[in-house]
Amino acid sequence: MFPDFPLFLAPMAGVTNTVFRRICKARGADVLTTEFVSAEGILHRNARTKHYLEFLEEERPLGVQLFGADPKHLAEAARAVIDWVEPDFIDLNFGCPVNKVVCRNGGCALLRDLPLLARIAHAVVTAARPVPVTAKIRIGWDHRSINAVQVVKILEQCGIGRIAVHGRTKEQGYSGRANWSVIAEVAAALGVPVIGNGDIGSAQDALKRKSEANVGGLMIGRAAMASPWIFSEIRTALLTGILPTAPTREQKWRLMRDHCSQEIIWRRDERFAMKAMRSRLMAYTRGMPGAPRLRHRLAQVGSLAELEDVAASELALDEICLQPATINN
Ligand SMILES: Cc1cc2nc3c(=O)[nH]c(=O)nc-3n(C[C@H](O)[C@H](O)[C@H](O)COP(=O)(O)O)c2cc1C
Repeated sequence: MFPDFPLFLAPMAGVTNTVFRRICKARGADVLTTEFVSAEGILHRNARTKHYLEFLEEERPLGVQLFGADPKHLAEAARAVIDWVEPDFIDLNFGCPVNKVVCRNGGCALLRDLPLLARIAHAVVTAARPVPVTAKIRIGWDHRSINAVQVVKILEQCGIGRIAVHGRTKEQGYSGRANWSVIAEVAAALGVPVIGNGDIGSAQDALKRKSEANVGGLMIGRAAMASPWIFSEIRTALLTGILPTAPTREQKWRLMRDHCSQEIIWRRDERFAMKAMRSRLMAYTRGMPGAPRLRHRLAQVGSLAELEDVAASELALDEICLQPATINN
């Protein structure tokens, strides 16, 4: 189902909906996962949850990521999702650091309760069979309790077929750097493939991480929000050793426009879609010259026409700035 050395788009709540997943797939992401979905929400057939599960055939192989703390409910939710939308795999979230999830014993909290983690993994693998189950973890709760090797061994014994490891602790949140030494340790200790995750920001980073840790694939999150081309750039670098050039500003603006039009179609409401897209548009400006000024402009766009005006004026400004200076003598 997965290609050799797959590149995964990291699940990101509020970001990796069907529209963005397809954008990444078209630019080389091999495997996609929904953002995390509450097992309880699925059992209550809640409308918002249904929305999270929408995907198109072209997104396969696609996994639905579930979170929760009750083995029976998670197993029932996995079975319901499989019967309902037929994903290619179920992914279990053992890495969410958000308090709302952790205080109900979900996500990262399970890294501190390994018997419960094992019961969840076992129950979901049994309920999902023959659909494969994967998991995503952090390296531990805090720097004093890094237990990723122990956790992945338990998950492997429960029949989890692939494990993504984000090289941060719960305590770190998104601060500091991902610890790739622990990811390498986990990959060396495990029979099933380990997918390395954390701070891959370029094709160069990907080559470095692949050579240092014996991982079976890589997972990329935030860098894809700024440039979904990162997947095809990494694939080219892996195949040829050549580091590709970055997309042009025209390409970026075209993508920003296309992303907005697809969101409008998906959400069926231009104002609502454009409002939801503001933070996403700002993420695309990372690394662009004049980004703070641009972000200020994008924070106010309310329609596709307004975005087109911003793009046209920015590209015109680029042209002026790139003209060779004329010297009068
Ligand atoms: C906005 C946002 C939402 C996220 N939501 C999820 C989620 O729903 N499930 C999950 O397992 N991880 C989630 N993550 C964590 C990412 O999947 C990933 O592990 C993390 O961003 C590190 O990878 P990166 O350095 O490539 O971004 C989220 C991260 C961000 C920034």
